[in-house]
Amino acid sequence: MTKRILSGMQPTGQLNLGNYLGALKNWVKLQDEGAECLYCVVDLHAVTVPYEADKLADSTREIAAAYIAAGVDPSQSTLFVQSAIPAHSQLMWLLATMTQMGKLERMTQFKDKAGKNKERAGLGLFSYPVLMAADILLYQATHVPVGEDQKQHLELSREIAATFNTRYGVDFFLQPEPYIMGEGTRVMSLRDGTQKMSKSAESDMTRINLTDDADMIAKKIRKAKTDPTPLPDSMEGFEGRPEALNLVTIYAALAEKPKAEIIAEFAGKEFSAFKPALSDLAVAKLSPITQRMNELLADKAEIDRILAAGTEKAQALANPVMAEAMDIMGFWKP
Ligand code: TYM
Repeated sequence: MTKRILSGMQPTGQLNLGNYLGALKNWVKLQDEGAECLYCVVDLHAVTVPYEADKLADSTREIAAAYIAAGVDPSQSTLFVQSAIPAHSQLMWLLATMTQMGKLERMTQFKDKAGKNKERAGLGLFSYPVLMAADILLYQATHVPVGEDQKQHLELSREIAATFNTRYGVDFFLQPEPYIMGEGTRVMSLRDGTQKMSKSAESDMTRINLTDDADMIAKKIRKAKTDPTPLPDSMEGFEGRPEALNLVTIYAALAEKPKAEIIAEFAGKEFSAFKPALSDLAVAKLSPITQRMNELLADKAEIDRILAAGTEKAQALANPVMAEAMDIMGFWKP
């Protein structure tokens, strides 16, 4: 069977190094290997947390520009907007009827985002993984490239697909495989090596954004939390040093080399030597993306054209699957 890749990012804030290394970079790789790729901007997911309505459409364009700037080629991959295809929310409803609340309650992302006040969390936030399952199953995607934090959501998508098939006695929905690739599957905060680097963390110093310029990248790396001990010569030496491990992991992911190689290269070196090297590498890899993104954003109409064309293509794939799912479930047809 041929591979069909699907993935998406939320237009909430700027994309950061975690999004790039954990997902986007791999999207480009899969595209360049010749797989059929569908990449969407998941704006329906973005509205599950407080957001500014007058900025949503522009944030959607920015995420699309980041995809293209990082190397997603709209003539090879289908680039589209989730909310423009009604079948995403329609399928979500159908899948919600076969998803247990107990399973959703176990989702760590929900627990993190809902915080202590679970009773007041919105139904949208709670049912977020069901919409994600719909995004994937609607396209009969075989593989989903994401960072490690999405693994649990993907397992749920697989379970929902299996439940549908069992309940209706069909072999209809595919069980998508997660693709969690490379060294940067879980990039941590620059200020706390035990927390994920995130778009929504309060302090901007915790992350490197794809829109940061060279000076800002250098400053954030210079100020990144470390410890006074030089870099160790083996993985064991990182025990209890999550910040040190994170910086080496970022270096390896950017350099596209195994971590062991980077550890060997910098063993015994002080952070005062390692940090400038990391900064130079980050700037070399990210600046061209930032620059391209800014160029693309100067022509919003072109981004809109690309998204409209991609959305039309995606819709043509989604609608027959949606119709068949409804048929299997026995709905009346006009
Ligand atoms: P989102 O927008 O939070 O993140 C987009 C992608 O970036 C990855 N990622 C990270 N990878 C490594 N280190 C980090 N610190 C880091 N932070 C984020 C995420 O794993 C993700 O791959 N639920 C998804 C969006 C989504 C989706 C989908 C993905 C909705 N529908 C269908 C795949 C298929 C999310 O929260 O992405």
